[in-house]
Amino acid sequence: MSKLKIYTVPAPVLKEKAQPVARIDDTIRKQMDDMLETMYAAPGIGLAANQVGLLNRVLVMDLEYREEDGAANPIFMANPEIIWHSEELSCMEEGCLSIPEQFAEVKRPAQVKVKYIDRDNKEQELDASGLLSHCVQHEIDHLDGIRFIDHISSLKRNMMVRRVKKLVKDYEVL
Ligand code: NI
Repeated sequence: MSKLKIYTVPAPVLKEKAQPVARIDDTIRKQMDDMLETMYAAPGIGLAANQVGLLNRVLVMDLEYREEDGAANPIFMANPEIIWHSEELSCMEEGCLSIPEQFAEVKRPAQVKVKYIDRDNKEQELDASGLLSHCVQHEIDHLDGIRFIDHISSLKRNMMVRRVKKLVKDYEVL
């Protein structure tokens, strides 16, 4: 496995729509594994292909990973599709590895049902609520070129993009 570069705002790739995967082959499996390693190292709970500069509909998530004892429960998804969502909404503070150190409350359907292809090419469904629901919707948004800051006011959004640009520039100087 290898670590991939994570693109940060305002990288154009984060605003592009990713294309469906035909099937899960060894290349896609390697991409999924590399994305997982990259996400664990960051650390984060979700990562979509756009964030590592790839434009296929692949994402990884793990809400249970703990570095200390190696606990993990990774979820690999290709071609995820929300096939049902609740009318009830949920508001939760979100962050993003592509928008480091910035957080904002985002309102989304509280529960969703997601259809997807897993790492072994099998069709699966996931019922998500709470943090997992926010996470999977956030990652699917990425595949459609939508960042969580696109759900908040343009004033806050522009401020966060400016902060990240400065932050990234500071890292590069070090
Ligand atoms: Ni994100």
